[in-house]
Amino acid sequence: MSADPPIKRDPTVTEWDLGTIDQIPDQEMHRVRTPRGCVLVYAESRDQIKAFSAVCPHAGADLSDGYAKGAMVMCQYHGWQFNLRSGENTARGLPGLIEVRTEERDGQLIAHFPVRKTS
Ligand code: FES
Repeated sequence: MSADPPIKRDPTVTEWDLGTIDQIPDQEMHRVRTPRGCVLVYAESRDQIKAFSAVCPHAGADLSDGYAKGAMVMCQYHGWQFNLRSGENTARGLPGLIEVRTEERDGQLIAHFPVRKTS
């Protein structure tokens, strides 16, 4: 279970600072709570960083509470497993994770979320 403090949900947020890139641990899952939900960050190396929504594509569980080892995370509810290098489901044909677009800005990893229509 994550000890991060809760952050109020805000669907209008389109950008969020996921942290200092140099402080993201290599080759292990890193969890960041944002107003758009939890994001899973995985750095194979400083130049190969991926970020994904922590929502399990099976039934919506929070994968930040799942079992993680290296580049793999397993959902605690029904055991689906995902490769954090690619977001792919380890079971062929099953849906993978939704990638969160990121950019490096002044040493920070910035997430970009899609704009939500309000009408
Ligand atoms: S909710 Fe994640 S495997 Fe079912």
